[in-house]
Amino acid sequence: MTDAEKSSRLPGFFRLSADERLDAVSKFSGVPRRELVALESPDGLPQSVASCMSENVVGRYSLPVAFATNFRVNTQDYIVPMVIEEPSVVAAASFAARLLRAGPGITATSTAPIMIGQIHFPEPPPEPVLENVIEEQREVLERVLNRNHPRLIAAGGGYRGARVRRLVDPKGRPLAVVHIHVDVRDAMGANAVNSMAEAAAPLLEDWTGCRVGLRILSNLPIHRRVKVEGRVALKEGGGTHAIDPAEAARIVEASWFAETDPYRAVTANKGIMNGIDAVLLATGQDFRAVEAAAHAFAAYEGRYTALAQWRIEDDHLVGRMDIPLALGTVGGVTKVHPAVRANFKVLGLTEAQPFSELVAAVGLAQNLAATRALASEGIQRGHMRLHARNFAMQAGASETEVPQVVAAMLAQGRHDQAAADLALLQLRGEAQD
Ligand code: MEV
Repeated sequence: MTDAEKSSRLPGFFRLSADERLDAVSKFSGVPRRELVALESPDGLPQSVASCMSENVVGRYSLPVAFATNFRVNTQDYIVPMVIEEPSVVAAASFAARLLRAGPGITATSTAPIMIGQIHFPEPPPEPVLENVIEEQREVLERVLNRNHPRLIAAGGGYRGARVRRLVDPKGRPLAVVHIHVDVRDAMGANAVNSMAEAAAPLLEDWTGCRVGLRILSNLPIHRRVKVEGRVALKEGGGTHAIDPAEAARIVEASWFAETDPYRAVTANKGIMNGIDAVLLATGQDFRAVEAAAHAFAAYEGRYTALAQWRIEDDHLVGRMDIPLALGTVGGVTKVHPAVRANFKVLGLTEAQPFSELVAAVGLAQNLAATRALASEGIQRGHMRLHARNFAMQAGASETEVPQVVAAMLAQGRHDQAAADLALLQLRGEAQD
């Protein structure tokens, strides 16, 4: 199957057993089942590997890994690995991805992977000493900073220049920061940038005679951005690939609410991050860095606002999002964690830019699904139905009893713990009359 022929529309995927789903994942991706064992095995992360990933390790901690279907981004179909404990996120992503798959699907563009390293001067030289030094010593800086990164340079990345920022602290004292810009190619980039910032510091101290404070990556990668756009045709009554105009109008209204009110914006953005973080966990990314950047970016203009916006344009509901994403397809645990390796194989992505574009597309789809549900029936009905499984498990139901308990709860129209407890007792014939 060529990439162009692949369809991530896998109707009925959710009805399959876990084993059958993994067969479908293998068939879609062309990755043999034996290379996906880490996804199904409770020992997906061997203790020997886990012990090398952190300190004082005593074991491993598991979460569900699922695949969202229907994704089409820049004409390419994907099934997307997501690791998340919250029910309904994967179903919601798949639902919205189906709405957004017409034509090229979700379209995305991204900038070059430029990261920022900060070199802090607590007692800075007067202006323009630092500014001049950076200009005059441009070639030396480039040579010294690139020296220890031959692989990055060979891949086309490396030091891309510096600028000085002059600030005043809350007590009115001046401070300065040199930002070094580094093209980190397919890495998240923290290691390369931190070591370059540390290498630049003694040179700058020498040239200015001023002491350097911190030397560290900035987790606000303002130059490393992804823009995504998704479109759904308007059609009376909606449908699989269309949305009812009245429903679309309520989504736009909800978008304005989130764009206006930080209390709503943070919740809408949390929904976006439900999708993004789930893919990041499945692919071994530094999700804390991405979270920090996303929320800082949402407040970048001085007021916290929604990351995504929805409008009606040319008979379509159109969503757009601009987000900084520092992701890597190399480095970190990408080649070390067996489940992460398997997930990247299924995605078929080896470069950070298309990977970031896909991740942003999942965030936008997640936002559409949540906003559509909130602007119509609300999220609780669907959410609680999925949550019924958790209630059934908490009641003590075995794997075979869970579906029966859930069915009994749904028949009664109740989705709470007491209903699950009673349904289980009734199933086992233990209920008191
Ligand atoms: C819940 O995890 C996420 C939502 O609150 C997002 C939103 O309100 O847009 C449903």
